[in-house]
Amino acid sequence: MNFTYYGHACFSVQAGGKTLLFDPFISPNPLAKKIDVAKIAADFILVSHGHGDHVADVIDIAKRTGATVIAPYEVGSWFENKGVKNVQAMNHGGAARIDFGRVKLTSAIHSSSMPDGSYGGNPCGFVVESADGAFYYSGDTALTSDMKLVGETSRLSFAVFPIGDFFTMGIDDALRAADFVGVSRFVGVHYDTFPPIKLDHEAALKAAQAAGKELLLPAIGESINI
Ligand code: NI
Ligand code: MN
Repeated sequence: MNFTYYGHACFSVQAGGKTLLFDPFISPNPLAKKIDVAKIAADFILVSHGHGDHVADVIDIAKRTGATVIAPYEVGSWFENKGVKNVQAMNHGGAARIDFGRVKLTSAIHSSSMPDGSYGGNPCGFVVESADGAFYYSGDTALTSDMKLVGETSRLSFAVFPIGDFFTMGIDDALRAADFVGVSRFVGVHYDTFPPIKLDHEAALKAAQAAGKELLLPAIGESINI
């Protein structure tokens, strides 16, 4: 699958012939200055929770592309009220068959409120299955033994985990999460954007190597094949 990193926790994956964009936060991110939001393609926009650093560009991209927003119920409803036409508001444990394959919302240990302070429900992660393979994006979360359930039911090609610590898992817990879900490689996200989540890249890569895992840290704007 083709994976493109747009900085912070925003990335897109080509799966099942569709472009899935996750947690778009580009225009307010100084590290992603060179990314032109107006050129980002999306058939679906998957939003893990309501925090500003995950939803900033959802409305613009959804309106321009006509992409369907897939999100926890309260987050999806908030976007509907903001005029986003195509919204699939789901909830934890629920799965749906869609053009690209299947998506299931998993639990995440974090918080969720919308940028205007309204209730954002509970944060989620996503398991995506397609003809090209399956992957798991945990969303912002602590390490949780619930991740073992993901590993029991899905054979994953890769995972995407936050590794910046402070607001989410750090690298050590992300490595345990990789074990829980049964992946040997994962993409690290949610680091470097803000001072408390500055990452020691070398130390993180070393920790992954010592744990027998492949940690992928694509540059912002870089596409990789996984
Ligand atoms: Ni958050
Ligand atoms: Mn976040």
